[in-house]
Amino acid sequence: MGQDYKSLRDYGCWLNYDPLPGNKYLGKFKTVSVWGAGSLRGAIVSELTRGLQGLLGEAPELLVGEEASVVVRREEQGNLGNPEGFRLKVREQQGQLRAVISSPGERGLLYGTFAFLRFLQLGEIAPGLDLVDGPRTGLRLINHWDNLDGSVERGYAGRSIFFRDNQLVDDLERVRDYARLLASVGINGVAVNNVNVHKEETQLIAAKLEMAKTLSAIFREYGIRLYLSINFASPLEFGLDTADPLEPAVQEWWQRRTAEVYRAIPDLGGFLVKADSENRPGPFTYGRSHAEGANMLARAVEPFGGVVIWRCFVYNCQQDWRDTQTDRARAAYDHFKPLDGQFADNVILQIKNGPMDFQVREPVSPLFGGLERTNQILELQITQEYTGQQRHLCYLVPQWKEILDFDTYAKGPGATVGKIVSGAVFPMRFSGLAGVSNVGSDPNWTGHTLAQANLYGYGRLAWDPGLSAQRITEEWAVLTFGQEPEVVETIGELLLGSWEIYENYTVPLGIGWMCNPGHHYGPSPEGYEFSRWGTYHRADRSAIGVDRSVKSGTGFAGQYHPENALRYESPETCPEELLLFFHRIPYTYRLKSGKTLIQHIYDTHFRGVEQVEEMIEKWKGLEGKIDAATFRHVLQRLEGQLVDAKEWRDVINTYFYRLTHIPDDQGRRIYP
Ligand code: GCU
Repeated sequence: MGQDYKSLRDYGCWLNYDPLPGNKYLGKFKTVSVWGAGSLRGAIVSELTRGLQGLLGEAPELLVGEEASVVVRREEQGNLGNPEGFRLKVREQQGQLRAVISSPGERGLLYGTFAFLRFLQLGEIAPGLDLVDGPRTGLRLINHWDNLDGSVERGYAGRSIFFRDNQLVDDLERVRDYARLLASVGINGVAVNNVNVHKEETQLIAAKLEMAKTLSAIFREYGIRLYLSINFASPLEFGLDTADPLEPAVQEWWQRRTAEVYRAIPDLGGFLVKADSENRPGPFTYGRSHAEGANMLARAVEPFGGVVIWRCFVYNCQQDWRDTQTDRARAAYDHFKPLDGQFADNVILQIKNGPMDFQVREPVSPLFGGLERTNQILELQITQEYTGQQRHLCYLVPQWKEILDFDTYAKGPGATVGKIVSGAVFPMRFSGLAGVSNVGSDPNWTGHTLAQANLYGYGRLAWDPGLSAQRITEEWAVLTFGQEPEVVETIGELLLGSWEIYENYTVPLGIGWMCNPGHHYGPSPEGYEFSRWGTYHRADRSAIGVDRSVKSGTGFAGQYHPENALRYESPETCPEELLLFFHRIPYTYRLKSGKTLIQHIYDTHFRGVEQVEEMIEKWKGLEGKIDAATFRHVLQRLEGQLVDAKEWRDVINTYFYRLTHIPDDQGRRIYP
């Protein structure tokens, strides 16, 4: 592909810097000066130049003195110890606006610069503004599931933007554009290769280290540290006959290798590890615990200030569907809770938001609130594996907000997930979030242009889990589509409603998994019913769901603190959107709405399709008001979504009708 696509509007995402309407800021901010930004100076100067040129029509002059109208300067500040935080002050002096962005750290200056440009577009730069802001979390990470051959596991936006044919791509300029996008929302670390580390990728810490080094240099320009996913059994690939973490030869091997890696990339963030998970090797092979495995690696990276990010996605993926005792939902907690306090202080557990796997609806993982003495970060999936694969509009910020706002009651009320991963509940050396990337080589980065909002929203929430979905959405809409209120409002409505709509026509009340095995697109009610993955709904003609109560079920509900455990324990108090996750319920059970379960299923599925039709109508109202190519692209996606939503509706409704023989009380069309 040529590079013409870079001139496409959607390539610019939320950093297009279109001319601002009106003359509020016209003739202002014509000079800038930048002090003490060190290695980030280039990024800051170029952003201010680009931004002000685009927004106000004139490239600012770069001054050396302090007299500039935009001053970016390094400054120790009593009330702001965080080198990633910044202060943004705006004053009016002799009719001129003057903005000062200061921070004790280089990254803070970069983030302050992006914030200044954002506030300009939101119209919020005004005399008297004095804002102190900083990230609530230390680690704001993106995980790429990119393979060296250029494929992307669960990627729905083309090929890898890093790798092709086991080499780096030619167009490294695009990686720089990507780093800029990520830095604009405060991302400070990127793991570039898939957590499933195949043979070729093992070489990233050896023969192919140069590739990682090149990428790290680009990300560094934007204050982003590189992380590498590693194979726990790497020593076997390099001639050792064991990868036992307690074996001195294995420990030495890792120490030597790690030292080599850090010689090439002195600021490498560390290693990301998927061990004993979905057939990846791990310490269990040698009868060792995950603490023993992780700590061995932690010792190797420790001298270099590195961390080991160890994933908690550990469960038995060879289950027999006939086995009704084993409950996959329990697995992460059962494995890791007993190890709480045993991990080295540079080990960080990375915990998926739910106990299963990124379904459209799941409860929050009980490890949040369960682990009290372990560094932990929340893993979210930005790539829409189970949520429409970037063909469907499914804006995940509302889902993520629910997760972050979930009260674990770990220390009485108020111990939300957001606070835990901000390090505000239990003392932790490291805290934060990791998001699985939704980016690929498609000209618009994310396949569906509106899926850019998920990347933006993830970054903003990682920065401040307390931001509201409303605010994030509005920001994104203004930055991407301009300030026209009707446009901003319509796009806001479309985004904010889309997760619920997707849920309506797909899988009801937390049951999950009714998708096609393997690729996970489209409906297949029993696709995972007789498989080895531990993902069963056990529907028969009278009831559906798994009893996960303590009293009569698998006991999963008991992994929460009492307030939540009690709520989940009985169908009467269980939040209805999770009813089928926690309970086995007859189709004739009456929900709070007064409807039976079966009628609820029919109704939500009919409604979901209607809602997609309504989304299309709303979108059509934007014709002529936004970029024509973007308009057509999204319209096409929405029309495809409608076709597939109907498929979901009809397959799911028919499935339940055939099982139950209970007709829809509205007499709508269900296929016998
Ligand atoms: C999901 C996904 C896999 C991925 C895994 C993981 O199961 O389907 O492709 O490897 O999660 O998070 O490790």
